[in-house]
Amino acid sequence: VPLSVKKKLVIMGKSGAGKTSMRSLIFSNYTAHDTQRLGATIDVEHSTVQFMGDLNLNIWDCGGQHKYLDNYLTEQKENIFGNVEVLIYVFDLETTNRESEYVLYDDCLSNLATFSKDAKVYCLVHKMDKIPDHEQKIATLDSYRRALAKRSDMFKPDVYGTSIWDHTLYQAWSKIVYKLVPNMGIIEKHLRNFCRLTDASEVALFERATFLVVCYTTSNHSDFLDKYMAISQSIKQYRNVCNQAQSPFRSVQMRNKSSTLFIEPFTKSTYILVITTDSEIEPAVTKGNIEAAKSHFI
Ligand code: GTP
Repeated sequence: VPLSVKKKLVIMGKSGAGKTSMRSLIFSNYTAHDTQRLGATIDVEHSTVQFMGDLNLNIWDCGGQHKYLDNYLTEQKENIFGNVEVLIYVFDLETTNRESEYVLYDDCLSNLATFSKDAKVYCLVHKMDKIPDHEQKIATLDSYRRALAKRSDMFKPDVYGTSIWDHTLYQAWSKIVYKLVPNMGIIEKHLRNFCRLTDASEVALFERATFLVVCYTTSNHSDFLDKYMAISQSIKQYRNVCNQAQSPFRSVQMRNKSSTLFIEPFTKSTYILVITTDSEIEPAVTKGNIEAAKSHFI
């Protein structure tokens, strides 16, 4: 019997960095446009999200105005930094004072070292869309990576560039939640078996509510990953449109010259993506295989 697991995620960073925006996009079906209406978060906003069945993500979105930050680092430090599984620190790359950002980051990490020394830290260099030039994007991210590697001691954070305006946000959050899902090894094994037995060329699993990619079979990483993240973003937008039109999203099937893509509801908490390149395989057969595989994954 799977046990329900509760994990605390803390999102930290200065006011206006984009913390509530990213949380609302990933977990509450907001569009990037909707976030422009968000007000500043008052103190800490708590939410619990059920993810992949057994996992309860307990999200602490910490308002970044000075009055709150001071309080988190003094009176509330044990409450905020205790029992943390993941700390997500959001840097606004438009900041005019990077040094003061780093001071705050250092304070957060020293509290984390005291109260949750085994936590995993992710740094998101956010609003990358503000830098149009690709080379400059890479240079900015590198400079953050160098600075953060020097000052993070034991935590060794993963640093990602993100924006609510493209799939990079999905990419970062997929990597964050991937590490939290219990039994991922078993899910991956089943998915590889399914891929082999059905002669599919690619298979991936998306979490139902967020459409984050939680698992995929192909070994050829970067191109494929980009594709899946773009699918996450597009399907979620499309599903919003369907919901507004009161015609709920169900599944997708697309065909080009060499392959057929299916996205079908799978388990209670996932959708499955299957791509076949063998034109001999009838769509009905692939759908039948998906149906038959469901019982192995629940
Ligand atoms: P506090 O609640 O005060 O701590 O702020 P916050 O970090 O939660 O910021 P919030 O999510 O409210 O976002 C502030 C503004 O930044 C909003 O107008 C968002 O639309 C905008 N924003 C968020 N993410 C991005 C991004 O990736 N790119 C751009 N250009 N704007 C963004």
